[in-house]
Amino acid sequence: MPKRGHASHQWGLPNFLFFPLLLRAFLPAAIPLLFSTMLFTEFQSRLAEVQTAIAAACQAAGRPASAVRLLPVTKTHGAWAAEFSLRAGLLAVGENRVQEAAEKQPLCPPALQWELIGHLQSNKAKQAASLFSCIQSVDNEKLLGLLAKAAALRPTPLSVLLQINAGRDPAKFGAEVEEAPRLLEAALACPTLRVQGLMTIAPLSDDPDVATRTFAALRTLRDDLSARFQVPLPELSMGMSGDFPAAIAAGSTCIRVGTALFGAR
Ligand SMILES: Cc1ncc(COP(=O)(O)O)c(C=O)c1O
Repeated sequence: MPKRGHASHQWGLPNFLFFPLLLRAFLPAAIPLLFSTMLFTEFQSRLAEVQTAIAAACQAAGRPASAVRLLPVTKTHGAWAAEFSLRAGLLAVGENRVQEAAEKQPLCPPALQWELIGHLQSNKAKQAASLFSCIQSVDNEKLLGLLAKAAALRPTPLSVLLQINAGRDPAKFGAEVEEAPRLLEAALACPTLRVQGLMTIAPLSDDPDVATRTFAALRTLRDDLSARFQVPLPELSMGMSGDFPAAIAAGSTCIRVGTALFGAR
């Protein structure tokens, strides 16, 4: 009869070797999640630079700096990046993947809000509705229906943005501009969802006019939809590290910034 409680002996390892091996196996996964590659003071100075650029872009566009929300994108960076953001007074972070957010959330203060900015697969809709305060990447009716059903389990409605491929980039997710009215109509019929506005990602290009045209197209679409459906749609989530001044000039209310705050991924 084998003795219980000596699992390591079954593998031929003495107990005193088993625990260091366990640590070696699991610590490498935990280290990048817990320990930052930059000091908080470096993050603060990067943040100050971004905030100065936001203020300058707002002033040039004749908009108050408070009209633009900075959403730090913590994708691929450890939980430290989310914690730094909250410590600096930023109340929400953007993540691209459901699984990554699920791993980081238990390591972060509960006061922090999480927004999904990456493509969402249908089979993750239920989990996403419980982890995020806002899903910025809703781009089809099937996903909308699944989120609406899952959001019924939440104490409050789930905020959503409709992701539109305003730059008509074959490499990007997002509903086509022509599909937007139908998608909005379907979203407005879901009492468990709150449609706050639209989101887009500009195509990668060396020509800055490409981003400018993309942002102008999203703004025009928002204005048209808002008038046609008589709903405010206040949020325009557009602009990243490389193009946020152009997005602010076009009316962005939420810029999603990763690299400029946390360094290259
Ligand atoms: C949807 C979306 N928004 C914003 C960002 C942040 O981009 P950047 O690191 O250029 O600021 C990313 C990064 O992958 C993203 O996928």
